[in-house]
Amino acid sequence: LAVLWQHLSVNYRHHFHAGNFADVMKHALLVQLVRGLQRKEGGLLLLDSHAGRGGYDLAAAATGDTLARQPEHPDGIGRLAAAPDLPPPLADYLGLVRAYQDRHRGTRPPADAPALRFYPGSPWLLRLLARPQDRLALCELHPEECEALRVSLGKAPRQSIQEIDGYRALAALLPPPERRALVLLDPPFESPREWADVVAAVGEGLRRFPSGTYVIWYPVSARVLRDAFFEGLAKLPLPPTLVAELVVNPGAIGLQGCGVVILNPPFQFEGEAEAVLRPLVAILGRHPEADAGLRWLAPE
Ligand SMILES: C[S@@+](CC[C@H](N)C(=O)[O-])C[C@H]1O[C@@H](n2cnc3c(N)ncnc32)[C@H](O)[C@@H]1O
Repeated sequence: LAVLWQHLSVNYRHHFHAGNFADVMKHALLVQLVRGLQRKEGGLLLLDSHAGRGGYDLAAAATGDTLARQPEHPDGIGRLAAAPDLPPPLADYLGLVRAYQDRHRGTRPPADAPALRFYPGSPWLLRLLARPQDRLALCELHPEECEALRVSLGKAPRQSIQEIDGYRALAALLPPPERRALVLLDPPFESPREWADVVAAVGEGLRRFPSGTYVIWYPVSARVLRDAFFEGLAKLPLPPTLVAELVVNPGAIGLQGCGVVILNPPFQFEGEAEAVLRPLVAILGRHPEADAGLRWLAPE
């Protein structure tokens, strides 16, 4: 069974999900987290342990290896791009998405191309945000995805791309010489084992580098696994830890929503997260009881 899960996890392709509501929530918060940490001049390590392929062509998102799938981006970035009067943090994120799109669509997009065709994954968002003093470390275990990541980002100073297990990378790369880091852990959660792996990796990260900002994305669907995840995290020597959750479709059989756990958020981040989440409920909600919440798992 373990081998099967390993296989499934390595076969996950983010392409089908790129730009969906979960990406929007995760990436909008990620942008504000990096901005918050960048209020200090000192250089940052931006470590993405499960980087994916870097960026995505949304026109290909509905085409699987063998299956045609329903694209998810219209109910995610599609809704955001069409929403009037975005508040500043969401306009900031959408501005980066558009900057990526302008870089990648070339000068003459085909006439039938969707208005927003190219979507940046976390590596490109981090790359667009990085200042000259910051450093990017991107890890991706799947060989094809990692190759696509290398092609997409190309060579750049202060950037490394490695085809390795992102959890092991934490042990190899922490503590960073900069003494400041944001670590994004965004695994596929295709295996139930993933929840415990994340807790173990964060524990190891904290042991090596307790002052780092750790950002963990998780799905909201199976309650049992999520409760055990929080219990596992609560057993760690947690620094101030904020949990942000967005439920777009309560009661749905599949993915109902998602959350982001943030260890050592930057100063006053709770208010900034609120300013991201509240409008997202209205924009991305698919049910009258769609909702978002913030709570401290370990106090500030
Ligand atoms: C949810 S996607 C990442 C999306 C990306 N962080 C973003 O926001 O654009 C998860 C990725 O992790 C990769 N992966 C799975 N297990 C891994 C591991 N142990 N170490 C590194 N990457 C892994 C998968 O191939 C997949 O590309």
